[in-house]
Amino acid sequence: MNIRNIQINDFYLDYLNLLKQLSILNEKEISFKDFNNFCNNLNDNHLIKVIELNDKIIASGTLLIETKILHNFGKVGHIEDIVVDENVRGMNIGKKIVEYLIDLAYKKGCYKVILNCNENNSKFYEKCGFKKKEIEMVKYFYK
Ligand SMILES: CC(C)(COP(=O)(O)OP(=O)(O)OC[C@H]1O[C@@H](n2cnc3c(N)ncnc32)[C@H](O)[C@@H]1OP(=O)(O)O)[C@@H](O)C(=O)NCCC(=O)NCCS
Repeated sequence: MNIRNIQINDFYLDYLNLLKQLSILNEKEISFKDFNNFCNNLNDNHLIKVIELNDKIIASGTLLIETKILHNFGKVGHIEDIVVDENVRGMNIGKKIVEYLIDLAYKKGCYKVILNCNENNSKFYEKCGFKKKEIEMVKYFYK
């Protein structure tokens, strides 16, 4: 199973259906044009990787690269939106995509890679080499 960059055509390979398994998403509100614009605005510091199987996107993960002034303009990798299709979970696909993003962050010169997750997923990320540190806080602007 190859890991590749997201492509505009992934809109037709059930990509939104995969993302729905991660959080709220109204497919009817996202047109192909919106998706196309989004993909065209991705850049070297905003990377989305996917795995395709039988004409369907079955896994996805994002790496955002932040350049700081601190740490001598050090780069931090932020891993976001890891999801594996419910039909193929437990087959090490999630670990494969997270390890790929960790390696990518390293190769792009990040001095660390971080992520947020809920308690239920912490064991999964520990198996991918992460450890717990500090706490996450949030403030929403809508209900
Ligand atoms: C979390 C998720 C990405 C894991 O993907 P997956 O492909 O099923 O996980 P893997 O098969 O790669 O698991 C790797 C290891 O972690 C373990 N693991 C996976 N999920 C786990 C969990 N919730 N709790 C404890 N261990 C877990 C596996 O047993 C496996 O252990 P092993 O190496 O000893 O066999 C997947 O369940 C998912 O998409 N969930 C819904 C979306 C989500 O919550 N994403 C995370 C957002 S922070």
